[in-house]
Amino acid sequence: MRSNRFPMNEEAKFNWRILGKLWPYLAEFKTRVWLALSCLVAAKIASVTLPFILKHIVDNLNLDTAKEQIMGVILALIVAYGALRLANVLFGEIRDTLFGRVTERAMRRLGLTVFQHLHRLDLEFHLSRQTGGLSRDMERGTSGISFLMRFMVFNIGPTLLEIAMVVGILFYNYGFTFATIILAAVIIYVVFSMRATDWRTKFVKELNQADNQANTRAIDSLLNFETVRYFNNEKFESDRYDVGLETWETARRKNRLSLFALNGGQAFIIALAMTSMLAMAAFEVANGNMTIGDFVLVNAFTMQIFMPLNFLGFVYREIRGSLTNIENLFMLLDRVPKIQDQSNSADILVSKGEIRFENVNFGYTPQRKILSDVSFTVSPGSKVAVVGESGSGKSTLVKLLFRFYDLQAGKICIDGQAINEVTQDSLRANIGIVPQDTVLFNDTLYENIRYGRPDASEEDIQQAIKLAHLDAFIAKLPDGDKTQVGERGLKLSGGEKQRVAIARAILKRPPIMVFDEATSSLDSQSEQAILSALKKLEQGHTSLVIAHRLSTIVDADRILVMHDGRIIESGNHDKLLADDGYYATLWRTQQKQQSKS
Ligand SMILES: Nc1ncnc2c1ncn2[C@@H]1O[C@H](COP(=O)(O)OP(=O)(O)OP(=O)(O)O)[C@@H](O)[C@H]1O
Ligand SMILES: [Mg+2]
Repeated sequence: MRSNRFPMNEEAKFNWRILGKLWPYLAEFKTRVWLALSCLVAAKIASVTLPFILKHIVDNLNLDTAKEQIMGVILALIVAYGALRLANVLFGEIRDTLFGRVTERAMRRLGLTVFQHLHRLDLEFHLSRQTGGLSRDMERGTSGISFLMRFMVFNIGPTLLEIAMVVGILFYNYGFTFATIILAAVIIYVVFSMRATDWRTKFVKELNQADNQANTRAIDSLLNFETVRYFNNEKFESDRYDVGLETWETARRKNRLSLFALNGGQAFIIALAMTSMLAMAAFEVANGNMTIGDFVLVNAFTMQIFMPLNFLGFVYREIRGSLTNIENLFMLLDRVPKIQDQSNSADILVSKGEIRFENVNFGYTPQRKILSDVSFTVSPGSKVAVVGESGSGKSTLVKLLFRFYDLQAGKICIDGQAINEVTQDSLRANIGIVPQDTVLFNDTLYENIRYGRPDASEEDIQQAIKLAHLDAFIAKLPDGDKTQVGERGLKLSGGEKQRVAIARAILKRPPIMVFDEATSSLDSQSEQAILSALKKLEQGHTSLVIAHRLSTIVDADRILVMHDGRIIESGNHDKLLADDGYYATLWRTQQKQQSKS
C-alpha cells in the first residue's frame, strides 16, 4: 500500500525536490524558458500600471477645468489604458505559447523514460504489478507535469511578483495602512490555504487509491472476460467492482466536503480584506485626503490581487496533487531493476553454443526452493531434453537461462562465460525460444511473426511461415496474414498461436534454441511435420527441449529427468530405459495410453 510507505508528517511537506528532479527534463529549451519568463515580467508590469492610468482618467474627469481643454489628455490616457490591457494579455499568450513546447517535450521525454524503465524492470515486478493502476499512475504523472508547469511558473510566480509590486506601490503612495492590510490578508490567506490543503491531502490520496483500485479491478475483470463468462460470474464481478466504486464514492464525498471548508475559509478572508480596504479608502475620500481616482485605484489593485489569489488556492491544491502524482512516477523510476548489467559487462561471445548449469540453486522467494543443485551441460550443437512432472522446475530453467532472475547459488555459463557477467541484451540476442504460453500482440498475424526479427526480409518471413506450417492456415483466412489476432492473440487457436511462436523463433535463428512444450497444443500429425522442420533447424544449433510427450524427444542426445527441482536421472533414451527408473515407468505409461487411443 502506497500510503503506508511514508510517515504522515513527511507526506504533509510540499515536495520541492521533485522540481529539482524535473529540471533536467525542462532544460532542453533554455532560451525559450528565459524568453517566456521575460514575457511574464512584461505582462505583470503592464497590469500593475493599469490602475494608475485609471486613477488619472478618473481624476481628470473630475477636474473643474473646462473639459474641452483636457479631453485630449483623457483620450490619450484611455488609448494607453487599452494598449496596456492588450499588452498584458498578449504577453501572457506569447509566454504560454513559448512554454507549451517546453512542457510537451518534457512530458514526452519523461513518458519515454518511464516506459523504457518499465521494460528494464525485472519480471518479478511485472508479475506482481497491476497494469490498470500502473497505467493510471503514468497518465496522472505526465499530465501532472503539464499542470505543474502551466500553473507553477505562470500563476504562482506571477502572482507573487504582482503582490510584491502592488504592496510596494501602495506603501509608497498611500502609506503604511493599506499596504499592511493587503500584505496581512495575503499572508493569512496563503497560510490558511496551505494548511487546509495539506490537511486535505490524505483525502486526495484516498481518492487516488480508490480510483486505482476500481480501475485495476475493472481492467482485470475485462481481461478475463472469457473466464468470467465460463463461470457465469458477471454478478460476482460487478459486485466486486461496485465495492471498489463505493469506496471511490465515499472518498469523493470526503474530498468534496473538505474542499468546501477550504473554499469557504478563503472566501471569508478575501471578503474581510476587501471590505476593510474599501471602507478605509471611502473614509479617506470623505475626509479629503484622497481623490476619487485614488479610491478607484485602491479598488482596482485589491481586485487585481485577490482575483489571482483566489486562483492561488486552487492552484496550490492542484500543484500539490500534481507533485504527488509526479512523485509516484519518479518513485517508479527510482525502482532499481533487480537484474542489472555489471558496469564492466561485455557482450557475450557465442561461438559453439555450450550451455552449462553448475550447482544451480534457486527459489522465486527465499521461503521456497525450486531448484536444488542442478548441474548439467549441453554440449555445442547437441539436443538436450528435459522431462519431469508439472511444477518440477523445467520452465524455471529457461527463465534462469534468459536471466530473468539471478541465482541464489551456482553458476550458468554459455561458452564458458557466466551469464550474469555479460550484458543482458547480448545474452538474450543469442537465445531463441518457443515459450510454453505464447501471448501475441493485438496486431496482425504478419506483424506478430515479424516480431522475431523486425528487420527480416520478406523472403525470410515467408520461409518462416512455411517452416512453421502456417501457410495453409493463412491461405484459408479471408484477410490472409493481415488478419488481426485480437488481444493477446485470443482469436487464434492454441496450436495456431504456438505455430506463430515457432515462426518467430525460426526468424530469429540464434545459436541456442529453447523449446518449452513447443508442440504441446498440436495434433500428432502437425506435430510430426513441425518436428521434422525443427529438426532441420536444430542442425548446428544447440537446443534445449522441454516436453511432456516423450515420443517427441526420443532422439535427444541426452534426456534429463527432473523431480522436485532436482535432476534424478540422465542419459539417452536407451540408457534411461535400461536403467528402468522413473523415465522408463513414464515411457511405458505413455506407450500404453497411445496404443489405447
Ligand atoms: N514467478 C513465480 N513466483 C513464485 N513461484 C513461481 C513463479 N513461477 C513459477 N513458480 C513456481 O515454481 C515451480 C516450478 O515452476 P515451473 O514453471 O518451472 O514448472 P514446470 O516444470 O515448467 O511445470 P509445467 O510442466 O507445469 O510447465 C512451480 O511450483 C511454480 O508454482
Ligand atoms: Mg513449464
